[in-house]
Amino acid sequence: MQKPYVFITRKLPEETLVSLKEIADVGMWPSEEEAVPRKVLLKEAQKAEGLLTMLSDNIDKELFDNAPSLKVVANLAVGYDNIDIEAAKMKNVRVCNTPDILTDSTADLTFSLILATARRIVESASYVKEGKWNSWGPLLLAGADVHHKTIGIVGMGRIGEAVARRAKGFDMNILYHNRSRKPEAEKKLGAVYRDFYDLLKESDFVVCLAPLTTETKGMFNREAFQAMKQSAIFINAGRGASVDEEALVDALKNSVIAGAGLDVYVIEPIAADHPLLTMKQVVALPHIGSASVETRKKMSELACRNIAKVIDGKKAETPVV
Ligand code: DGY
Repeated sequence: MQKPYVFITRKLPEETLVSLKEIADVGMWPSEEEAVPRKVLLKEAQKAEGLLTMLSDNIDKELFDNAPSLKVVANLAVGYDNIDIEAAKMKNVRVCNTPDILTDSTADLTFSLILATARRIVESASYVKEGKWNSWGPLLLAGADVHHKTIGIVGMGRIGEAVARRAKGFDMNILYHNRSRKPEAEKKLGAVYRDFYDLLKESDFVVCLAPLTTETKGMFNREAFQAMKQSAIFINAGRGASVDEEALVDALKNSVIAGAGLDVYVIEPIAADHPLLTMKQVVALPHIGSASVETRKKMSELACRNIAKVIDGKKAETPVV
């Protein structure tokens, strides 16, 4: 009997695909770095029962309308704003993500962005490698302390809470803003709820971990940056489109805020000549929140299990819809 066809939109480690290959014929875009061309994706989707997708793939209505056999889309990410959920529902296609297993890796990365930006780690490392270090200086590449400062976490989901746990280890004062109050986090971590603007006013580090929704799109706008302390550092490890990037550029250029640590952008990959990349007070990473080898393998295995389960008529482990 012919096995169902599953298409994977980027090269993933072979050893993570073993169980999926037992139940399905698997096609895979052969590149790790180049995204699958739209034309190829649409062609593959036409014959697939399952798709294993990346957050950079646009899984929209056009794709769902032309994928008559499609039963499941498993996204290799916790976020799924690249998928048209309403269109998936209309076609009765299950959508799955990879929550939990990436929480700690993403929180580690978020906290390293805080440290790297505050303590000017990237700038300092380049300074040494470029042979600029001539003598020790009392204020040479002096940055800002992180310990005992106030962190304001916008988006207190699983990753937000994991960042708060790390902040506790740095004796930080923890504020958070979220759609709903988190009594458990308040009790366990001493996190204190604030209205968005109060959080912005009081925080030394404003950390965006909110998912991208119609409510969060562009929420870090001119007004938001104006409300922050002049010494504030803005960190974004959520989604780029939560930020008005022009407003962020102006806020940094005009010293409205002190710095930014960014893992995500409105358009990814960010253009090499983007003004944000020219500023020494900006630490910019290429959306590597969950990118440890261990975690990415677990994410791939979970996505494969989700596809196998749905194709087998069972409930997915981590369904979104
Ligand atoms: C995700 O998985 O949605 C995050 O962006 C982690 O990189």
